[in-house]
Amino acid sequence: MSSNQKFLVIGSNGQIGTVLTKKLAEKYGYENVVGSDLRPPKKHTKFIFEECSVLDFNRLGIIISKYNITDVYLLAAYLSAKGENSMDKAWDLNINGLINVLNFAKEKKIKKIFWPSSIAIFGSTTPKKNVDQYAITEPETIYGVSKLSGESLCNYYHNKFGVDVRSLRYPGIIGWESMPGGGTTDYAVDIFHEAIKNQKYECFLSKNRSLPMMYMDDAIRATIGIMEAPSEQIKIRTSYNLSALSFSPKQIGDEIKSHIKNFKITYSPDNRDRLAESWPQSINDDHARNDWGWRPNFNLSQMVSDIILNLNKIYKKEKI
Ligand code: SER
Repeated sequence: MSSNQKFLVIGSNGQIGTVLTKKLAEKYGYENVVGSDLRPPKKHTKFIFEECSVLDFNRLGIIISKYNITDVYLLAAYLSAKGENSMDKAWDLNINGLINVLNFAKEKKIKKIFWPSSIAIFGSTTPKKNVDQYAITEPETIYGVSKLSGESLCNYYHNKFGVDVRSLRYPGIIGWESMPGGGTTDYAVDIFHEAIKNQKYECFLSKNRSLPMMYMDDAIRATIGIMEAPSEQIKIRTSYNLSALSFSPKQIGDEIKSHIKNFKITYSPDNRDRLAESWPQSINDDHARNDWGWRPNFNLSQMVSDIILNLNKIYKKEKI
């Protein structure tokens, strides 16, 4: 890293932000990483924290100049399920938040931006399996619509103003260090907590609803990986397809059962199952692999073992 790199994570209390901020601080030094969110973090953190909404352009500008921020990771977003209940707010946060950050880069106040897109940019008209980077994109949620529009904005700011913005189409992200909120793939995190605490889980997706997923560890490596890659290797400035694994609730349930014998999964699909139905089952990420060397590390059984190991430790500690 160049010695004057300073990082701002917007949405540092969120599922990915919590882990990413910590990883960046460990890698680049706690004095070089600033987390920001609407409210201070619940647990004590060692990194610098600033309260800020990404929609507050002036406050964002003050933080950027106070710390001489060079790289912004913009993770604040309304996810798919929550977005359907608050369409205007979802559009406002997902699009105007992005435009604010892009404008700081356009004005050369920051150097680099990471902004995630999602598998939700695809819809029922997209093929289900091994979905190509340039497959048809007709999203069916406001979340997907905002992410697809955001991809175009990133590409436009890059081509027109030379903004160095990099993006990944995240699949469902699963980890043990933080909880997701408002997404359709959240079940794949909830299931572990319920399995360990109560040995049972009622799933809001149907039994065989297979979706593209990724372990948090891989998602963080991909995120820092694309940001560290030389600029000329980033040939796609909309957003890269990114893939690691695909599984259904039944498949992850069976895998959990191999660790927790009495675990029982039942199914009570709700409206989130319809959102999931419109998404692909698996993604082709050849461009990310060829352009900047992306490779996932974790398969389903490795991920499940690692999560159960870590959550068992946490729940045991809580009981003591
Ligand atoms: N995890 C997201 C959601 O479920 C998809 O990108 O909304």
